[in-house]
Amino acid sequence: MTTSLFLRALSGEKTAIPPLWLMRQAGRYLPEYREVRAKAGGFLDLCYNPAFATEVTLQPIRRFGFDAAILFSDILVVPHALGQKVWFAEGEGPKLEALADAGDLARLDEELNLERLAPVFETIERVRAALPAETALIGFCGAPWTVASYMLAGKGTPDQAPARLVAYSDPVFLDRLIERLVEASIIYLNRQIDAGAQVVQVFESFASALPPSLIEKLSFAPLRRIVAGVKAKHPQAKVILFARGAGPRLEGLAQCSGADGIGLDWGVDPRWAAATLNPEVTLQGNLDPLALIAGGEALRHDVAAIREAMSERAFIFNLGHGIQPQTPVAHVEQLVKLVRS
Ligand code: CP3
Repeated sequence: MTTSLFLRALSGEKTAIPPLWLMRQAGRYLPEYREVRAKAGGFLDLCYNPAFATEVTLQPIRRFGFDAAILFSDILVVPHALGQKVWFAEGEGPKLEALADAGDLARLDEELNLERLAPVFETIERVRAALPAETALIGFCGAPWTVASYMLAGKGTPDQAPARLVAYSDPVFLDRLIERLVEASIIYLNRQIDAGAQVVQVFESFASALPPSLIEKLSFAPLRRIVAGVKAKHPQAKVILFARGAGPRLEGLAQCSGADGIGLDWGVDPRWAAATLNPEVTLQGNLDPLALIAGGEALRHDVAAIREAMSERAFIFNLGHGIQPQTPVAHVEQLVKLVRS
């Protein structure tokens, strides 16, 4: 029997109080994060420094006592470890040397450079050793489509138009890229679990940018293969899929993905999800991060509505997307009280 409320909920138990963690819970809304970030230099330097990355992973646990810690890293370390140039321009977000065609893909490394990712695995070992037994540790990666969309555009773009265009104009190239990322993701997640992660979450942040004709091939099928690849090596490990903007298409994903948990973004009606999505799957979500910025009555109301909707299901409380830098710390404290009362 595990002492972790989070792992119990993810194993299908309806807990009286839902476990709680927040996507992007380590980040700029915390003064102690900003302090370490300034010392580390660049964002990737922070991700690849086990001492600093361990410290920022633990900060939100110390402050709020969340039920799970999530590894501090980024989804773009995978393209980086495949040999693509990745950098974070201050105030502009991620930048990559964009892949134009299958020739550019062929020039990347065939296999994930695990040497380059060694600091990530060391961070996981250090965090697991520092966490209390009841606090679960989550590892993660980006879903192949989401990561591919950055590799093709070289930056974040509205509606992932560059990658979507490649899906129509050069499908063989995109299929090959997705294939490479499926294999890399399985190896990467399995190594994270070897290092001490008990759960992995796969972030499909741009499911919203896939039309009906492409979502099965480019998102859901690769996600199922990743779940299967993780479970084949680590049957006890738990997997959560977060497909932002999938809308009613979540029904198909929840039905046959093999995942233990399905993350809901803030656009999903929690009553619809509770009534419709595969009852064997634990649901996670889905407070609007802006309600947390606003606090007060809006926050109280929405937390109560989500808890009420999920009262008959195994459930993990979270935001419906990452916490925003301008979120007041006092509102996170209020959220913790509301969820745990
Ligand atoms: O949840 C956590 O606390 C773990 C850490 C984490 C980060 N990025 C840290 C981060 C996780 C799980 C991610 C995932 C990630 N990264 C996603 C998928 C989730 C999502 O939000 O949809 C995506 C699309 C990325 C790519 C990425 N990294 C972007 C678009 C940005 C810029 C965002 C911004 O707010 O500036 C990043 C940088 C980044 N990753 C930051 C953090 C804390 C901010 C960097 C800083 O401190 O300056």
